[in-house]
Amino acid sequence: MKNKLGRSFLRFDSVSSTNDVARELALAGASEGLCVIAREQTAGRGRQGRSWSSPPGEGLYMSLILRPQVTASAAAMITLAAAVAVAETLTLDFQAAADIKWPNDVLVRGRKICGILVEAAIEGDRLQYAVVGIGVNIAQRFFPKQITDGATSLFLETGRTIVPEDLMGVMLPRLDHWYAVSMSQADAVIARWGELSSSAHDCLVRVESLDGSVEGVTRGLTATGALIVELANGERREIVSGEVKVRAVSA
Ligand code: BTN
Repeated sequence: MKNKLGRSFLRFDSVSSTNDVARELALAGASEGLCVIAREQTAGRGRQGRSWSSPPGEGLYMSLILRPQVTASAAAMITLAAAVAVAETLTLDFQAAADIKWPNDVLVRGRKICGILVEAAIEGDRLQYAVVGIGVNIAQRFFPKQITDGATSLFLETGRTIVPEDLMGVMLPRLDHWYAVSMSQADAVIARWGELSSSAHDCLVRVESLDGSVEGVTRGLTATGALIVELANGERREIVSGEVKVRAVSA
């Protein structure tokens, strides 16, 4: 069957945030698979209230509208599936060895190259729609000083000059595939995610969340995508949101 995602596109020169545009369109009834892409974002957003640096022509800034017939809890699986699709694209199609940090930061050589922001509208226990926003650093040679140590781009990693729409064209079939898998075989997404994440298992981490912070060793993901962290006293916590800081690879 032909790809469902990205069958229709809306391209903009400059928007505040492609997620905002996609959300407006979803509220107005836009179909599943519509993809919004912009050359520049003036107010690109990241997780946990952060901004996403989006200079004109230097990155891929795209948002997809999804309308899965699932309960709200499935939104976590969409997030993991998107990270798998991006990591596979960078590794297999662009030879930039990508690593996923829970839940969905995509890194190359320990530096962030892609961020994913999934925003879902929930009614009762059903997902009405989800907007999957993906930002990939492509052409940057330098970054704003607040993120300069932690960020990288496809140009810095591969020396290649890549057109954002070409990257999107290669990524969409992988997104389509992993989205479909996430709806029917969540365990396959979890397994692939684990293969693509060097910190999923046996890694000493600190997780900071609104509930405080915990330190422990990662023990993989639950069936619903929560990160399992084993504390020093042997207790296992299931983390559903937060920021993971990798301390060290542990035994
Ligand atoms: C993060 O790592 O914090 C997530 C960053 C997500 C950035 C993308 S760029 C396209 C879409 N529009 C936004 O405003 N954010 C997402």
